[in-house]
This record gives sequence, structure tokens and C-alpha cells, in this order.
Amino acid sequence: MDDRISVWVGDITTLKVDAIVNAANPQLAGGGGVDGAIHRAAGAEQLQQACRQIGGCATGQAVLTPAFKLPAKAIIHTVGPVWQGGQNNEAQLLRSCYSESLILAVKEGFRSVAFPAISCGVYGYPVQQAVPLACEEVERCLESFLMIKKVVFVCFDEAMAQCYESQLASMD
Ligand code: APR
Repeated sequence: MDDRISVWVGDITTLKVDAIVNAANPQLAGGGGVDGAIHRAAGAEQLQQACRQIGGCATGQAVLTPAFKLPAKAIIHTVGPVWQGGQNNEAQLLRSCYSESLILAVKEGFRSVAFPAISCGVYGYPVQQAVPLACEEVERCLESFLMIKKVVFVCFDEAMAQCYESQLASMD
């Protein structure tokens, strides 16, 4: 495992990193889950205005806004795929969420990025498939993105953290 990757249990909105990643929807309209938490903590009005100016984000892509009241410097909004059984390009789209977010981070000169478990909540992606994919794709990207010094997988509960820990350990 790349020693720049770590796992942390808690609320992503509290992290003082260069960018936190939001599991957004294509309208960037805000919602529940991590999206709702980020909008509330950043300041819903300001963040919604910034999102409206961008207009939207296709599934698998990523866009950037300021982080407003958050301790992070910026928010990278990415849109995960809705799980539809696995035959609708879900894996490639989820992979793309991680790589496009990191590409954007590199463009902005960011050195630390925190990811939630994209698509693993409301969007229904099976955790047992999403976690290996997330770990492998981030590790693959970090091989060329040497300027990124820290990637944190933020988990809302211990069970999810265990999943990441064992996946990362198996990649040693
Ligand atoms: N910090 C870290 N992780 C969190 C937080 C938080 N504050 N809140 C929720 N999570 C976790 C969930 O436990 C889940 O494992 O984030 C993961 C992703 O879940 P969702 O937020 O439901 O994201 P997703 O499945 O990608 O669905 C996106 O949900 O809220 C809407 O607008 C959003 O329509 C979009 C959809």
C-alpha cells in the first residue's frame, strides 16, 4: 500500500485538508448523506450559489468550488454512478470519480485530499465492490501524481473503515 493513503473514521466536513470530495448529484443541487453534511457545514446558501454558477456535473466527472466555512480549502464535487446491477458501466464511472477528482486536485496544486465512500450510500453501490475499486484507482493515480502527499478515505463507521483497512493491507 502507498503510505500516502490512510483511513479515518469521522465526519469529512471537519477535516483540514486541501480538498474534501463531495458525493454530489448531477444537478449539484445538494441532498442528503455526505452532500447534505457538506452543504450545511460549508454554508448552504453560498455553496448552492457556487454550484448554480457551475450548472451541473456529469456522472464520473468532477468540479471545484470554494469550501466557504469549512476548514478545507476547497470542495471537489464528483458524481458517482447509481448502482443498477453492475452492467451499466458503474465500475468505470466510479473509477473515473476518483481519477477525475485527483486530476483536478493536481491541477489546483493540492497536496491533500479526503474522499468519502462515493456511491456507497443512497446510490447503492455494493461496498464490497466499491472499496477495492476506490483503493486500486487511488493507488494507481498516486503512482504518477507525486505532488499529492496525502489521501484520506473517510468512513462514517468502523465497519466501513475495516473494509478499507483490509483492502489496503491486501495490496501490500
Ligand atoms: N462524512 C463522511 N462520510 C459520510 C458523511 C460525512 N459527514 N455522511 C455520510 N457519509 C457516508 C455514508 O455513510 C456513505 O458511506 O458517505 C457515503 C456516501 O453516501 P451518500 O452520501 O449517500 O452518497 P452517494 O451514495 O454517492 O449518493 C449520492 O445522495 O445525498 C445525495 O445529493 C446526493 O443525490 C446524491 C446522492
